[in-house]
Amino acid sequence: MAEFSRREVGAILGTFSTMAAASPALAAGSLAQRRFPKGFKWGCATAAYQVEGAVKEDGRGETNWDIFSHTRGKVANGDTGDIACDSYHRYREDHQLLRALGVSTYRMSLAWSRIFPEGRGQPNQAGIDHYNRVIDDLLANGITPYVTLFHWDLPAALPGGWQSRDTAKAFADYAGFMAGKLSDRVKHFMTTNEFACFTDLGHKEGIHAPGLKLDPAGVNQVRHHGVLAHGLGVQAIRASAKAGTKVGLADNPSITVPVIETTEHIAAARKAMREVNAAALTAVMEGRYLDSYLTAQGAAAPKVEDGDMKAIGSRLDFVGINVYAPQFVRADANAQGYTVLPMLASSPHMASPWLRVGPESAYWAVRNATELWKPKAIYITENGCSADDPVTDGRIDDADRVMYLRNYIGQAQRATAEGLPLAGYFLWSLMDNFEWADGYGKRFGLHYVDFKTQQRIPKLSAAWYRELIRRDALV
Ligand code: FCB
Repeated sequence: MAEFSRREVGAILGTFSTMAAASPALAAGSLAQRRFPKGFKWGCATAAYQVEGAVKEDGRGETNWDIFSHTRGKVANGDTGDIACDSYHRYREDHQLLRALGVSTYRMSLAWSRIFPEGRGQPNQAGIDHYNRVIDDLLANGITPYVTLFHWDLPAALPGGWQSRDTAKAFADYAGFMAGKLSDRVKHFMTTNEFACFTDLGHKEGIHAPGLKLDPAGVNQVRHHGVLAHGLGVQAIRASAKAGTKVGLADNPSITVPVIETTEHIAAARKAMREVNAAALTAVMEGRYLDSYLTAQGAAAPKVEDGDMKAIGSRLDFVGINVYAPQFVRADANAQGYTVLPMLASSPHMASPWLRVGPESAYWAVRNATELWKPKAIYITENGCSADDPVTDGRIDDADRVMYLRNYIGQAQRATAEGLPLAGYFLWSLMDNFEWADGYGKRFGLHYVDFKTQQRIPKLSAAWYRELIRRDALV
């Protein structure tokens, strides 16, 4: 690599500043090329169990995560969501944080067990009233709510949880019910969040609620009930929501990134994206399970009833993809035509060891999904990272998070510049919160939360995001 002496660096910088003075575009970092299309939606995301707290208030029923987090040894440091960010009481304050950022949208989730404490049966008016107030306050602040109906907090009273087919039906009833209540004001609903997490992490790996390690047939059946819940949910929402309501989901497919951008590797990554996600997003987008998946599962393949696949494949108004770690892929002469490359000890990651850095995934998620399934619209429904976030003199200068976000959002910008149908971006998360099995030890927020006092402090990344939104361009 060429080495520059101090003098040379000085000379280069001098030239640059002369050019910058002469060219306003350069001074602003080539803004024209880094701009997002008009109407692009900027937002932040959170989820009920991670921020609300108030787990015993106003008739809320117990959930799988209440039980799991109160089971010794399941969550780091013995943390629970009992109080979390106390957003159940502080939502007005949180909405002011959104306002200060300048976002136009907020992705939030509803706690199913506040509405149906038993998962089904009698609705709880106090829960409905709460979300009415939350939605009204968002709208009063000029922020458009995007509502997720299930972000992992499953009412514990449902017998068998996701092992039971009836849970998918109970979900659909709840989804339709809430769409009926809110669709006069909420125009975007997401059914479920991240199939692989509430199915595999909870029932195969045992590291999320309910902490089971089922056999392959059991896991496949749980996965099937997950996608079925989504499909029946879409139908129920459409049946009860006001005309014009848009329905989608938020999923976390494995995002396959061609390790070299040549025709051959690009095709391999696209094929891999379809196949490695066969039990979840591919089934939803195509309304069928791929033969390769069914053959590989053999006798453990899920039991599917008539009409299931049609429901699962209900046409969506938008697809939400949560973008975190990449899966690098190369073309291969093997039977499947590709190899998914393992992560290496030297692959960079953020504070969460699973969060390998791969900004290109923000582009390839959108491009692969578009080429495979031609969705009407795509949102990045989550993207963000954990960082160490030390507080120094009251400041949190999270330059590492800014680096991460700038690179991922830059790749999202590339997708829009190429005309791909990316309509918006939700940053995970508005504030530090209960990060599932990692408890409060992993911070993902644009705002630092002092969990003792509930004080929220904007990090440097919040100022960065605000500036990006103000300019509608990468900064
Ligand atoms: C996603 C979850 C979200 C949050 C982020 C860091 O998998 O959907 O709730 O925990 O990871």
